[in-house]
Amino acid sequence: ALSYTGAALAAAYPDHAINMVVPFSAGGPTDNVARSLAEAMRPTLGQTVVVENKGGAGGTIGTSQVARAKPDGYSILLMHIGFSTAASLYKDPGYNAFTSFEPIGLVVDVPMTIIARSDFPPNNIQELVEYLKKNKDKVSLANAGIGAASHLCGTMFSNAIGVDLLTVPYKGTGPAMNDLLGKQVDVMCDQTTNTTQHIKAGTVKAYAVTSKARVPTLPDLPTMQEAGFKDFEVGIWHGMWAPKGTPKPVTEKLNAALRAGLNDPEFQKRMAGLGATVLTADATPEALQKKVEQQVPQWGELFKKSGIQPQ
Ligand code: MLT
Repeated sequence: ALSYTGAALAAAYPDHAINMVVPFSAGGPTDNVARSLAEAMRPTLGQTVVVENKGGAGGTIGTSQVARAKPDGYSILLMHIGFSTAASLYKDPGYNAFTSFEPIGLVVDVPMTIIARSDFPPNNIQELVEYLKKNKDKVSLANAGIGAASHLCGTMFSNAIGVDLLTVPYKGTGPAMNDLLGKQVDVMCDQTTNTTQHIKAGTVKAYAVTSKARVPTLPDLPTMQEAGFKDFEVGIWHGMWAPKGTPKPVTEKLNAALRAGLNDPEFQKRMAGLGATVLTADATPEALQKKVEQQVPQWGELFKKSGIQPQ
């Protein structure tokens, strides 16, 4: 039961701005989703949601910051699939995926794209695979650190073609994209919420999407399955969490704001333009918790099979 002060706090909530931590750099895919969502949640909350970018260690630094924050509803987390992969990649990611948070709900699902700098020689996915096999010591693969979505996808791709590439870690794929545009790195697997505009502008080369079906906004890109990678499918689901112990009336308000945000036509339009699917029906604590419970063992198995030890 809530103490009197807990009940009073919940009744007044929110009476000032809410801090939403994105555990990656500004200007990247998670940040893009977060800033649109923050805007879309504002009318329900009557307060500003301020995005704080706290990148590093594949998202685990920002995520654990929220796990340790005061559970008063003013610190929340917007993170993605990496929330569940880090559990198998780090001996101590700084949080427990099952017990450190109050789940608020699922948010969006985002396909990934395999891309390269615009002057990279291969012109299609088959040529890319051949090229990587022949030039594996010369090619650099950018990612947002161990535990990031780009790390997961890069690992799946390296496994699928049997080639280990030199990886270059960043605090987010926002800065990684800048280096790809500047031709300082060669290849990346990154979400359409970051890559769509560059693919359309022709400033990067794109080879394939990782969703089961083609992405309507990028209709010319084959799926990995069409390209012959039978089991290669990954969607970058995003979720919202509050620290464990956040009072229920507060998490309920956050959930109501999340659901209203996901139903906002402007948010939906922006997400559709970036190839993302809005997970309106799964914007519940139960659906997010179930997702985490299913995903932690699934990816744990992949890393185990790949011989990747937690660090
Ligand atoms: C980001 O926002 O930088 C990304 O989500 C990084 C990633 O997970 O690859």
